[in-house]
Amino acid sequence: MERRVSPMPILVSIAALLLAAASSSLSEAADSKGSFEDNFDIMWSEDHFTTSEDGQIWHLSLDKETGCGFQTKQRFRFGWFSMKLKLVGGDSAGVVTAYYMCTENGAGPERDELDFEFLGNRTGEPYLIQTNIYKNGTGGREMRHVLWFDPTEEFHSYSVLWNNEQIVFFVDKVPMRVFKNNGKENNFFPNEKPMYLFSSIWNADDWATRGGLEKTDWKKAPFISSYKDFNVDGCQWEDPFPACVSTTTKNWWDQYDAWHLSDSQKLDYGWVLRNLVIYDYCKDTERYPTLPEECEKKLSKVIVPDKWKEGASNTTEGGGRKINENKLLSKKKRWTPYGTTKCTICKQQVHQDAKYCHTCAYTKGVCAMCGKQVLDTKLYKQSNV
Ligand SMILES: *[C@@H]1O[C@H](CO)[C@@H](O)[C@H](O)[C@H]1NC(C)=O
Ligand SMILES: *[C@@H]1O[C@H](CO)[C@@H](O)[C@H](O)[C@H]1NC(C)=O
Ligand SMILES: *[C@@H]1O[C@H](CO)[C@@H](O)[C@H](O)[C@H]1NC(C)=O
Repeated sequence: MERRVSPMPILVSIAALLLAAASSSLSEAADSKGSFEDNFDIMWSEDHFTTSEDGQIWHLSLDKETGCGFQTKQRFRFGWFSMKLKLVGGDSAGVVTAYYMCTENGAGPERDELDFEFLGNRTGEPYLIQTNIYKNGTGGREMRHVLWFDPTEEFHSYSVLWNNEQIVFFVDKVPMRVFKNNGKENNFFPNEKPMYLFSSIWNADDWATRGGLEKTDWKKAPFISSYKDFNVDGCQWEDPFPACVSTTTKNWWDQYDAWHLSDSQKLDYGWVLRNLVIYDYCKDTERYPTLPEECEKKLSKVIVPDKWKEGASNTTEGGGRKINENKLLSKKKRWTPYGTTKCTICKQQVHQDAKYCHTCAYTKGVCAMCGKQVLDTKLYKQSNV
């Protein structure tokens, strides 16, 4: 609930804040009481799984012998699924950490799946994050993004909002990818089958880093990814059919606000599209001479400025954000998270054309190149995922 910001009378919002605080501390209590064993099973190589002393942080390790993985005991259909991850640091080329939801424990021919995959890299080179969607065994819906921070330094949250209208992949508060249900019959939108949540670490040096050119350096093993703060706020499956899926609009994820991005999320999403996307299957006409059906709407959305963008281009909110200016800038030089000059604020390395590193630019809501205010980051403080 606390994720969504909507105009409410002040009394109601105070009440809502209190409620949200109460419920989040309740659910935290429930989470921390629930041990790993209560929620998850280890899928393979139990000896490659360790936890911190207090049991709150989990580590999966990969060596030449094997990787490791875990999955939820329960299945869910719709809701909010979130976890904090800290990825393998240093030289991790060829290593893939996957965090995904899937209808089956395995690569079944009729599975639905929602994937986050983190593709490791050589020391100092950026990690890529790949997302993908499967329906009834068919995937091929990859997108790849760079991140605006180094995911190996700290924990960040990676979340999925899934309802009958949209699937949104979030990194921290930022919507990275929005996949809409176009409502057509037999369309490519997984919404019928409940899914488990999984995570695993494995070797994929045949494809993962620069298309398989970079091989895993086993001298650097073991490779370790860490996890904490698993959080599900969704409809837990019970055979034959739990009440929570048949009652539409009863749960927050089935309500109008969760069917669309909020205005501030749209601003962030626009920023992601302009600056972070490095691969989009919907633009790969070499691979898809006829693009998948769900791409049509997306293409027109991205290329032709839609109403919202036109409206937003002359807003003065956030210090006069000008979409067209940003577009020109990003056309001239795409932002990359690592570079050769120093950030004016924190002295981290930045892209040679930039004044600010991504972290500083993003936390200050300014354009990394020009220092102009581009984002209103005030709203983030209202939520805590
Ligand atoms: C799902 O895939 C299976 C096997 O690939 C196929 O037989 C079946 O008809 C498909 N179901 C739907 C609903 O498309
Ligand atoms: C790894 O770094 C190289 C060089 O900067 C970059 O081209 C590539 O996209 C990065 N990520 C992966 C997963 O290959
Ligand atoms: C923004 O500009 C458009 C076209 O120039 C205009 O129709 C619209 O009313 C303006 N919006 C605001 C909020 O000023």
